[in-house]
Amino acid sequence: MTGPAPSPAFVAGATGYVGDALTRLLASRGASVAAHVRPDSPRLAEWRARCAAARAAADATPWDEDAMAAALAARRPAAVYALLGTTRRRGDGYEAVDYGLTSLLLRAAVRAARDTGTTPRVVYLSAVGADADSRNPYLAVRGRVERELRASGLPWVSARPSFITGPDREESRPAERIAATVTDAALFLPRMIGARRIADRYRSTDAEELARALARLGVDGEGIVTGELLRHG
Ligand SMILES: NC(=O)c1ccc[n+]([C@@H]2O[C@H](COP(=O)([O-])OP(=O)(O)OC[C@H]3O[C@@H](n4cnc5c(N)ncnc54)[C@H](OP(=O)(O)O)[C@@H]3O)[C@@H](O)[C@H]2O)c1
Repeated sequence: MTGPAPSPAFVAGATGYVGDALTRLLASRGASVAAHVRPDSPRLAEWRARCAAARAAADATPWDEDAMAAALAARRPAAVYALLGTTRRRGDGYEAVDYGLTSLLLRAAVRAARDTGTTPRVVYLSAVGADADSRNPYLAVRGRVERELRASGLPWVSARPSFITGPDREESRPAERIAATVTDAALFLPRMIGARRIADRYRSTDAEELARALARLGVDGEGIVTGELLRHG
């Protein structure tokens, strides 16, 4: 596979649908990739093997700011990807995971950059409609992370896709698949009448399409990037 790849890259959320696709894509392009797997993951051994097969390095640094800053300082990534998130069904909480761990990673990246004199680009996987003032907790935490990215002093990108889904997702999420299918169908008309930009913003994407865009954005992306620019990577 050809295309740009930031190297080295650090991928947090590497065991997720998007993180796994991105890790494999970057590694296939010859990038040095550290794929973060939480140390308490019951599938740690399996992920170590999957990373080795993809020619990526599994990194099981604890979710602790000092430890994460030290790991990033040692690896000196050109891009730090924050692709974490939980679901209501899992119950870990948007505040603790989507906001808390992402914010911890960002603070660790800022410290590592300062300590090593490097300027990694932080690429955050947000969502369409992210807004710190939203009453929707999912959108609000993403808006708060974006506010911290802006204030971080590092180069940053926030990718705001609509639904991310595909038949290749390991975890079954039927409600999400149905919602994505209905949304995509509703966008057929706007596409037909030429409102392609709007349709592209809200149409669903799959992990491989998004991974191609994230690889490109990790090299030269800037600021908020919405759906229409997350395609055709
Ligand atoms: N799905 C969508 O339609 C959609 C749309 C827009 C934006 N997004 C956002 O995009 C991001 C990635 O999406 P995805 O579909 O790739 O998600 P995913 O498949 O659910 O992967 C989530 C990642 O977060 C990690 N994670 C979850 N809970 C954790 C915890 N308590 N501690 C440490 N790590 C934890 C998971 O690790 P484990 O494997 O160890 O659990 C996994 O690596 C998420 O922020 C999501 O909200 C999703």
